[in-house]
Amino acid sequence: MNIEYRSTAPDRDQIRDLFATTGWNRTFKASPEELIRAVANSQFVIAAYEDEKLVGFGRVVTDGVLHAMIYDMIVHPLFQGQGIGAQILNGLVKICREARIRDIQLFSAIGKRVFYEKNGFEARPVEGPGMQFKPGTNRKLGLQMESFEQQDPGHKVQQ
Ligand SMILES: CC(C)(COP(=O)(O)OP(=O)(O)OC[C@H]1O[C@@H](n2cnc3c(N)ncnc32)[C@H](O)[C@@H]1OP(=O)(O)O)[C@@H](O)C(=O)NCCC(=O)NCCS
Repeated sequence: MNIEYRSTAPDRDQIRDLFATTGWNRTFKASPEELIRAVANSQFVIAAYEDEKLVGFGRVVTDGVLHAMIYDMIVHPLFQGQGIGAQILNGLVKICREARIRDIQLFSAIGKRVFYEKNGFEARPVEGPGMQFKPGTNRKLGLQMESFEQQDPGHKVQQ
């Protein structure tokens, strides 16, 4: 097996197909264009290929100084358990460390905790957990904020 690692974004169809292996898009309902925009808006990417087929992926979103979040760690099911995930994860961590980013975090999917622990991560303390927004529970936001369809997808933070 000859795996090549690249730090450039994969093409739209390849990331769509790899993302589809996870089932996550049943929740996100992202179009291929939105997926590739998420990748393009990430600061660091590592993509693994075998014979030009995308078999692994991971990306980092960061402020470049204090915090970095690793997202979308995916290895194609036929290629799992061969060290590709570890190569991608450690590659992303190395890039963040070289950029002197202080804090590197991620959310472990269910059943993947040991994979991350084997690669230098530890779970946050129970009294300081990661938190995620729960749509439909905060009336103060107003109902029009509850649906992604009604939001401007091009909205960006003002520089
Ligand atoms: C999680 C994932 C990226 C791991 O990639 P991988 O290429 O299969 O992992 P590796 O082969 O590099 O494994 C590295 C080490 O972690 C261990 N490991 C990997 N997955 C594990 C799991 N689910 N539970 C326990 N240990 C695991 C391996 O045994 C290996 O251990 P070793 O160093 O002692 O040999 C891959 O399983 C995947 O894409 N899963 C589906 C998508 C997903 O859930 N991603 C995580 C999002 S948070």
